[in-house]
Amino acid sequence: MSIHNEYKKITTKRLFDMKQAGEKISMLTAYDYTMAKILDASGIDIILVGDSASNVMAGHETTLPITLEQMIYHASSVIRAVDRALVVVDMPFGTYQGNSKKALESAIRIMKESGGHAVKMEGGKEISESITRILSAGIPVMGHLGLTPQSIYKFGTYTVRAKEEKEAQKLMEDAKLLEELGVFSIVLEKIPAKLAEKVAKSVKIPVIGIGAGKNVDGQVLVMHDMLGMTKDFSPRFLRRYADLHQIMSDAFKRYINDVKTLDFPNENEQY
Ligand code: KIV
Repeated sequence: MSIHNEYKKITTKRLFDMKQAGEKISMLTAYDYTMAKILDASGIDIILVGDSASNVMAGHETTLPITLEQMIYHASSVIRAVDRALVVVDMPFGTYQGNSKKALESAIRIMKESGGHAVKMEGGKEISESITRILSAGIPVMGHLGLTPQSIYKFGTYTVRAKEEKEAQKLMEDAKLLEELGVFSIVLEKIPAKLAEKVAKSVKIPVIGIGAGKNVDGQVLVMHDMLGMTKDFSPRFLRRYADLHQIMSDAFKRYINDVKTLDFPNENEQY
């Protein structure tokens, strides 16, 4: 039996043990109560209340516009559904980058008002002061390196990061620094698989990949993408496990037709 099944509740310590035991960690995003309930009951290890809510829930082009209040709303909905998974909440753009005191205040609001178990922050050395202050308050932090969507206007594109030696070296240094600071895990997004493997082998904390190959300690995807609800996003790393777009659109069309043709409701569906 995998150690995953022995755990009634997933904690940061258990994720660390899973890496040591060579057991891969599963992680998906969720933003609302109903989806989180199904996901938690399915046995996922980590639920990320990602700032990708800005894209898939609110329809923004980037993750930048989502606010702290909106993230707290999504996270508290998820928390009400979850019995087992570790719930990590993204700190939104502008709430932690410039000022470590403000960063701590934002993290405390997330923990107090949503009941989340940990926060995730994008970046390395540049945000080390904010990470240290948040950790010193006893709040677990997950790092995020590689393609960091909150910096999209600096990169200018969503293509693979750290292909050049200089950027790869900086990423490796940042990963080691994050581990030294005390983060419990790192997400690596859209970087070469060989580099991700090297990072995962160089640190003791679990490294979770998205578009970072299989030789890391776990995988994360955005729920709406892997369920096939989003149609206009097809990066190479995305595996679709369902075509909910088709299933939902068929159901909606059948309902509309039944209403128009007076088929719904029938005599058994009324009082
Ligand atoms: O916001 C998000 O969904 C994320 C994942 C892509 C890792 O940060």
